[in-house]
Amino acid sequence: MRPLVLSSKYVVHTFGCQMNAHDSDRMGEVLQASGWVRATSAEEADLIVFNTCSVREKAEQKLRSEVGKLAPLKSQKPDLVLAVAGCVAQQEGEALLRQIRTLDIVIGPDNIADLPALVADQQHGGLPQAHTVFDLDSPRFLAAMPEPGRVPVSAWVTTMKGCDERCSFCIVPYTRGPERYRPSEQIVSEIERWVDAGAREVTLLGQTVDSYRDDALNSNPASNDPDESQFPALLRLIATRVPRLARLRYTSPHPRHATQALADAHAELDVLARHIHMPVQSGSDRILKRMIRRYTSAEYIKRVRRLASARHDITLSTDIIVGFPGETEADFEATLQIVRDMGFVGVFGFKYSQRPHTPALKLPDDVPEEVKSERLARLFELSESQTRAHLASLVGTRQRVLLEGKSKTTEKLSGRTERNEIVHVEVPGGVSAAGLIVDVEITRAFKHSLEGQLDSASVEFIAREALARTLAGSSRSTRTSDSPSPTPQPMTHEPPDRRRRNLPLVQ
Ligand code: 5AD
Repeated sequence: MRPLVLSSKYVVHTFGCQMNAHDSDRMGEVLQASGWVRATSAEEADLIVFNTCSVREKAEQKLRSEVGKLAPLKSQKPDLVLAVAGCVAQQEGEALLRQIRTLDIVIGPDNIADLPALVADQQHGGLPQAHTVFDLDSPRFLAAMPEPGRVPVSAWVTTMKGCDERCSFCIVPYTRGPERYRPSEQIVSEIERWVDAGAREVTLLGQTVDSYRDDALNSNPASNDPDESQFPALLRLIATRVPRLARLRYTSPHPRHATQALADAHAELDVLARHIHMPVQSGSDRILKRMIRRYTSAEYIKRVRRLASARHDITLSTDIIVGFPGETEADFEATLQIVRDMGFVGVFGFKYSQRPHTPALKLPDDVPEEVKSERLARLFELSESQTRAHLASLVGTRQRVLLEGKSKTTEKLSGRTERNEIVHVEVPGGVSAAGLIVDVEITRAFKHSLEGQLDSASVEFIAREALARTLAGSSRSTRTSDSPSPTPQPMTHEPPDRRRRNLPLVQ
């Protein structure tokens, strides 16, 4: 029997999408609530979790090679517990335990709360276990617990999970189950908690985030649109109930729910960022039909243009799959055309890969690999030229930038504009200014980001904030005064006692 280790250490390795990053944070929280502490390396860890992605084949292969690399460590340290979580875990279940003999635990995305108990069982000598049950009857959403000293300027909040679409290429309905929505009151209180702890921006997260439903919210009674959801009402509720939230974003929506009511919400709510990521997948109607996307390119253009024109200056980005079964050169040309027509400033492009359990498996994967690569390169060439032209057009303008943290490549701070451009800027006081919104004059455009200079009002504002914090006796614990100027806004922080409060795990 393995000895019970008291202060055990864990590491979570995350692959794939933002939903996985979010789930990894919740795993850390449930483990810490059970007395675990974060390890700084795999060597000192007692538990290593791989939170996996299976949306494309490449991501799945990566998991297998990463787990394989740990085999020597596991044989040196037999008490080390190895777990696989996320979409590959859900997809493979027990079979994964047979395929990877070093694995102890396979745990699905809906079972994160059970992780400490499963690990404890392993530490007591239990047999390897797979636990991958969807919480269909009483959906559970783990509430985030902002960790003092580690509160990001920009936080992610889950609003729904699962997917009721049946896009023929996509494994998500299989790995994440049907749509379940988090009650709006829980969403609002989690956003309040983040803002209380110091976050300034929230991104709402869901597989089809704009299909949101909650019977407690009023829907739009005048609308007969079958695609109407209560997502616009949720956005309004958040804007009203959390007025201190500086910016609100969401990802990823489905174009079907890009209704007039959503456009109205963008027109009315100042808190909504002026950037929308709206996956189109293809510009060819023939391919869109085979993908079961449930819109034509003309419908996409109409709906998304209506949304983008709700406010001056909204930018768009998208996801595109190249080389879907049967995609001809003419189909691909139609995709390039929609990229031009919509003026996307960001394109996430992927080569089609066959996924288990998806309807498209019935179609032969008949676009040769070299053709997929060549189309992807052409797609990126076009999208990069659009991104470059857009960034260049911002040189000489003033932008309101939410400072986020130290830039990866320079000594400067990096932040984001109200749309989504990354701006590097030299800031007096450096990283202590993270969380402030400042006015920046854009001086230079790079391939994927911008460089700028603070204007003099913002320099004074940052100095006043730093002084106010010094007088308050702590640099990160007290709410400072509101700026007299309407432009920059102060960081808001809660006193430490409130931040340390124990928050419920499950709402
Ligand atoms: N092959 C390639 N790309 C895919 N995506 C989803 N499934 C597949 C697949 N089988 C892409 C889509 C989606 C993004 C998250 O991943 O573009 O929007």
